[in-house]
Amino acid sequence: MAVVLAAAAFTIGGTAQAEGNAGSGQKKTQMCEGCHGIEGFRTAYPEVYMVPKLGGQSANYIVAALKAYKSGDRNHPSMRAIAGSLSEQDMADLAAYYATAEKAAK
Ligand code: HEC
Repeated sequence: MAVVLAAAAFTIGGTAQAEGNAGSGQKKTQMCEGCHGIEGFRTAYPEVYMVPKLGGQSANYIVAALKAYKSGDRNHPSMRAIAGSLSEQDMADLAAYYATAEKAAK
């Protein structure tokens, strides 16, 4: 399963990137769940706001978004702080997990 996903991500991306492992990705979602795992995709701190749903998005899109936050191309304070702490491997693992997590829809 992980091999198939990694191959798919590689094909879509067209460039070399870290291989994502959904199993290790799931273990890293603890730092995302506080915001992305809330029913209705809202978080309440510092005020109630909507948080995008990650489950079911393409792995490639998630990695690209995380890299954009890290580099500053996307500018959201909390996501910039989070993405800045992730390695390429973390991003690939998280993306692989969320891409397959549609049913769990966290
Ligand atoms: C403090 C709350 C918070 C935490 C923790 C958090 N996020 Fe986010 N995330 C957000 C918000 C709010 C947005 C929307 C930001 C924007 O408008 O650019 C977002 C956007 C994103 C996006 C872009 C989604 C899209 O549809 O464009 C991705 C991917 C993402 N987060 C992944 C993660 C991952 C992976 C983690 C854990 C490592 C994480 N986030 C942790 C609040 C959070």
